[in-house]
Amino acid sequence: MFPFQRPRRLRKNEVIRRMVRETALSPDDLIYPLFVTFGKNVRKEIKSMPGCFQESVDRIVKHAKEVKGLGIPAILLFGIPRHKDECGSSAYDPHGEVQTAIRAIKDKVPGLYVITDVCMCEYTSHGHCGVIEDGDVMNDPTLELLAKEALSHVEAGADMVAPSDMMDGRVEAIRLALDSGGFTGIPIMSYAAKYASAFYGPFREAAESTPKFGDRRSYQMDPSNRREAMREVALDIDEGADIVMVKPAMTYLDIISDVKENFDLPVAAYNVSGEYSIIKAAAKMGWIDEERVMMETLISIKRAGADLILTYFAKDAAKLLNR
Ligand code: PBG
Repeated sequence: MFPFQRPRRLRKNEVIRRMVRETALSPDDLIYPLFVTFGKNVRKEIKSMPGCFQESVDRIVKHAKEVKGLGIPAILLFGIPRHKDECGSSAYDPHGEVQTAIRAIKDKVPGLYVITDVCMCEYTSHGHCGVIEDGDVMNDPTLELLAKEALSHVEAGADMVAPSDMMDGRVEAIRLALDSGGFTGIPIMSYAAKYASAFYGPFREAAESTPKFGDRRSYQMDPSNRREAMREVALDIDEGADIVMVKPAMTYLDIISDVKENFDLPVAAYNVSGEYSIIKAAAKMGWIDEERVMMETLISIKRAGADLILTYFAKDAAKLLNR
């Protein structure tokens, strides 16, 4: 004990701090979400997410090139369709916004890994993540739509699909659809422990996917539950998930850590829109140092156990890491 033990010895200067640092962040860990919309030459900033845009296919291709140029290996695509209806039929339209964007990006930005978000909420007129009956989302009929959506993304050239709907059994439904379509080699990253979180607020402006009635608490998890996350993750792995995700990230570091301890698949964490917006807003007010808070946030998510981080900060962080 003191005076022989002095932990400060290893904090004396940046060289020794670098040598004993336990966690390192790399652009390889990052996945950047992009929002594709209809039209031409559209690049509309999302008010509550400064630096993020809804973009038409022509513009998103340029953006995707920039992302790849920064050394970020992958993007996650969301779609904002021209037409919404009760059963979200644009979601599996082979000429939909996402499918068209995938083809264009695979053609013009080879080597960039394209992941798609598979969900119905951006495509349904009511904004829920599936088919509605008696005021609630019907589980099993929704599985068919999700499987069709995932297959259409992969047929367009997606490298990986990421179901975010939280229906029971959707990983298996998607796995079966992909396999029977001949896509046995396409992995599934499941939003396995996805909580019904108020931190998704700004995203719903971005994706125009706010539910018109009620909320998502009958399908997304209760933020109070920790053990249930292990059950959700175990089920998704049984059903064939290749990567399991925890979402949100900052207020769910305990869950990330539990998943990492208990399972041997790669763990992803989604640093969601509200987590991004609060940092951007406080920085704009001059109340925090944006760069340092951003890096501390991303490091904490990695330290908790995330192998991959989905984040709107990916470009800013990569720029710093490449310096
Ligand atoms: C679609 C989906 C959502 C997010 C990712 N996929 C919104 C939701 O479930 O309401 C949130 C992403 C974010 O907040 O950054 N279901």
